[in-house]
Amino acid sequence: MLDTAFTRLVGCSVPIQQAGMGGIADAPLARAVSDAGALGMVNMVMVPATEVAARLEVMAEQTDGVFGINFLMPFLDVAAVEASAGVCRVVEFFYGEPDASLVARVHRGGALAVWQVGTAEEARQAEGAGCDFLVAQGVEAGGHVRGRLGVLTLLAQVLDSVAVPVLAAGGIGTGRAMAGALAAGAAGVRVGTRFVAAAESPAHPAYVDALLGAGSGDTVVTTAFSVMWPDAPHRVLASCVEAMKAFEGDVVGEMRMGDMSVPIPKGAVPCPRKDTTGAIEAMPLYAGESVDAVTRRQPAREIVEELAREAERLLRGWA
Ligand SMILES: Cc1cc2nc3c(=O)[nH]c(=O)nc-3n(C[C@H](O)[C@H](O)[C@H](O)COP(=O)(O)O)c2cc1C
Repeated sequence: MLDTAFTRLVGCSVPIQQAGMGGIADAPLARAVSDAGALGMVNMVMVPATEVAARLEVMAEQTDGVFGINFLMPFLDVAAVEASAGVCRVVEFFYGEPDASLVARVHRGGALAVWQVGTAEEARQAEGAGCDFLVAQGVEAGGHVRGRLGVLTLLAQVLDSVAVPVLAAGGIGTGRAMAGALAAGAAGVRVGTRFVAAAESPAHPAYVDALLGAGSGDTVVTTAFSVMWPDAPHRVLASCVEAMKAFEGDVVGEMRMGDMSVPIPKGAVPCPRKDTTGAIEAMPLYAGESVDAVTRRQPAREIVEELAREAERLLRGWA
């Protein structure tokens, strides 16, 4: 029942993609998701291309599952794209105009090319650029949000506009929501916020606690955290916007970059990780409307299995 155009194309057994998430989608999380039969994704922002290739090679040795890498267009390193395409099953882009030359580079390396889109027009462009599947991101999504429409409205528009498989993203944290998206024609779902609270996630414990204590009504789309990445709306917990505005000083804390500790300016984009110090509550606590479904810390495998089991049960009852 959960065999879809996406699972067949990618070679996984569960139609779930763990969202690429800057600062969160490290190898241990992606590997756990891949091992559970879904598509695990990594992010390696600011990592040199040679190092990206080396880390992906290690990952390939450590899992029999499929995995991919996510690139944010405003921070794109083309050499890293090329280095990834020979190792990953999926190379994915977000937040920039679909680019046929990038897609061609991915295909030359042997990977599938994917674009996360926020409008039907962007979906048509991404398909025209040669992408193998797309992700339609609704405004319910945590993190940076491309579109302005609810996920089911956007999904319908995108499905009417393109022929390639389309995943639904944004606010999907339960088997119920997953079943809804699949019944509406999605070939799979992309899940972000739930995996921030996975046991394998590098998120700061205070960030995870804030997710555990929050509900869908506690998130807001803002441009409050725009240092390093201006004019890019993002969905976070409303509490962190208030805490950031009330914070006195220009530096909210420090984060690790390789062997170095670097200051985090007030209003900057990186979310707090375990090794981040400072006013965690005043840093961007990205969260989608799916935050309702974050009720405990649990292994990524459990999240994948719970969603798949519940979606399948509901779809069987419905069919
Ligand atoms: C902490 C966090 C970081 C994110 N970073 C990225 C990113 O680097 N690249 C990207 O394509 N999407 C990013 N997103 C958005 C996700 O790809 C996805 O659209 C979103 O998580 C789906 O909504 P959900 O969080 O309700 O599941 C991020 C989301 C979160 C929660």
